[in-house]
Amino acid sequence: PGDRLVDKFGRIITDLRVSITDRCNYKCVYCRTGNEGALYSELPIADYLRLTRVFVSLGIEKVRLTGGEPLLRKDLSELVSQLSRLRTLDDQPLDIALTTNGHLLEDLAQPLADAGLSRITVSMDAVDPAIFARITRVPGSFAHVLAGIQAAKSAGLGPVKVNCVLLRGFNDDQIVPFAKFSRDEGVIVRFIEFMPLEEDRLWTPESVVPIGEVLTRLESFRPVKRLAPNAVSETAVRYTFDDGLGEIGIIAPVSQRFCGHCSRVRLTSDGKIRTCLFSQSDHDLYRVLLDGGSDDDLAGFIRKTIAQKEARHHIGEPEFLKPSRSMVHIGG
Ligand code: GTP
Ligand code: 5AD
Repeated sequence: PGDRLVDKFGRIITDLRVSITDRCNYKCVYCRTGNEGALYSELPIADYLRLTRVFVSLGIEKVRLTGGEPLLRKDLSELVSQLSRLRTLDDQPLDIALTTNGHLLEDLAQPLADAGLSRITVSMDAVDPAIFARITRVPGSFAHVLAGIQAAKSAGLGPVKVNCVLLRGFNDDQIVPFAKFSRDEGVIVRFIEFMPLEEDRLWTPESVVPIGEVLTRLESFRPVKRLAPNAVSETAVRYTFDDGLGEIGIIAPVSQRFCGHCSRVRLTSDGKIRTCLFSQSDHDLYRVLLDGGSDDDLAGFIRKTIAQKEARHHIGEPEFLKPSRSMVHIGG
């Protein structure tokens, strides 16, 4: 109640996304320039755990581990296992989700499920192996990701979500194949509008595939039916088909931004708070810890930072400024 994190617009923050590395084994065209390693430092697992514990004491109910590519951290299972012991303010288990490119998932899905992971989202931008390799710039990568998705399903990490960022000229012909993939594999496929968060300058308004077009293409395959939202702060608008088979989510941060009911805050791999993907600056929470701050000091810093959360992003408007970090260095 009184303890929860609320910003000056009355939005309650319940969703923490923690990046545990900004390294990645893929070089997706819309994300990385492909010629650099880690830019920012990584913290010991114990420090992510301590910071997360303080966030949870302030009402966080859902923790999403991201990167970079989080499976590159060898000690990830240990973090998941420690997180799974935390309880929310309502004395519920934490919802612990992971966003991964899936490349290393085949061997890690079961150990992560055993450690207490609740859910998994795999970023996969094509169901055609050649298109997939053209986007990720890693030959032969597709088979690994497919095997990773199967392993996640077998480990009970379901329902598995698959995120597809649509890029004009790269994968805009993959919409119907993905719809079939959702129906055949029993995974939730979410199409995401491309946002200007990349290292290169690939983004233009024309590079975005708007949701209207996604729906038209889906309808050309089969009639679609809208599903009721799971929660008000949900990023995706959900659909199924006339026969109830398959689930498609459409995430439209550009053409239908969802900032008004944002419930998210981010912690970067180097321990900085970002209150928005498009923040112009970050807030050095880790400095408070390094200076010997108590949990109360950390909580105070978090509260003060959340109070300053931006109203919304300005994609497509004249005042838009690219954020000071690209997506791979913030966390997805
Ligand atoms: P669950 O509901 O827990 O499954 O998570 P989610 O809907 O937040 O999904 P996910 O973490 O997979 O995020 C999906 C995509 O939504 C991301 O890859 C981003 O492209 C976009 N997104 C997530 N959070 C934000 C945000 O705060 N701002 C904007 N503009 N886009 C976001
Ligand atoms: N626009 C939209 N989504 C993006 N992602 C990465 N970069 C962008 C972008 N510029 C997605 C990834 C992954 C998640 C971490 O964010 O595909 O699913």
